[in-house]
Amino acid sequence: MELQDAIANRRSIKMFKRDMVIDDQVLYQAIEQSTYAPNHGMRQPWRVVHIAKNRLGEMSKQVSRIAFHHQPDKQQDHYNAVTNLGGMLALIVQEDPRQKENLENYLAFGAFAQNLMLLLHEAQIGTCWKTPQYIFLPQIRNVFGVKDNESLVGFMYLTDMEDEMHHPPRQTQNIMTQF
Ligand SMILES: Cc1cc2nc3c(=O)[nH]c(=O)nc-3n(C[C@H](O)[C@H](O)[C@H](O)COP(=O)(O)O)c2cc1C
Repeated sequence: MELQDAIANRRSIKMFKRDMVIDDQVLYQAIEQSTYAPNHGMRQPWRVVHIAKNRLGEMSKQVSRIAFHHQPDKQQDHYNAVTNLGGMLALIVQEDPRQKENLENYLAFGAFAQNLMLLLHEAQIGTCWKTPQYIFLPQIRNVFGVKDNESLVGFMYLTDMEDEMHHPPRQTQNIMTQF
């Protein structure tokens, strides 16, 4: 697949209404290749926790007990959605006490994440990066073993591509002015 095609055609997949599987070996290879992303000081400020297909249900129970306390309907919705996925990644960035280095770490994480979404798209694995409000809760951070000097910056939902929607092309944006 041409890089231009991958960039133009990758879209967040937000349909989780049927059971899906993905090839974990392909996922692991894409994660490894994504670490070729630029990162200042070669701090490699990223890590991921893989929630494999057979662990999604247990993860959902632990997360939704905290995130949707006393909301059984929302707990069930979460369970139904995520157990249909082919897997999930918890996305974790290394914090740095220095302002500039901390910014660089977050920016590098974005480069890593885009590499990952493009490589998975090429491998016919759909993705959606999710940033629910509850990623900031200490109990949720504990579920995924996020350390004090790390931030949980969301979850990557992993799907097959059967339900890939055919989105209209993006509007071209004029983001450039001349100096
Ligand atoms: C950092 C980040 C956080 C996102 N968080 C969410 C989210 O919480 N829920 C969601 O449905 N989509 C989320 N998305 C997906 C965007 O909404 C999506 O990228 C946007 O709609 C553009 O569509 P595309 O990815 O299909 O091109 C997130 C994307 C990024 C990059």
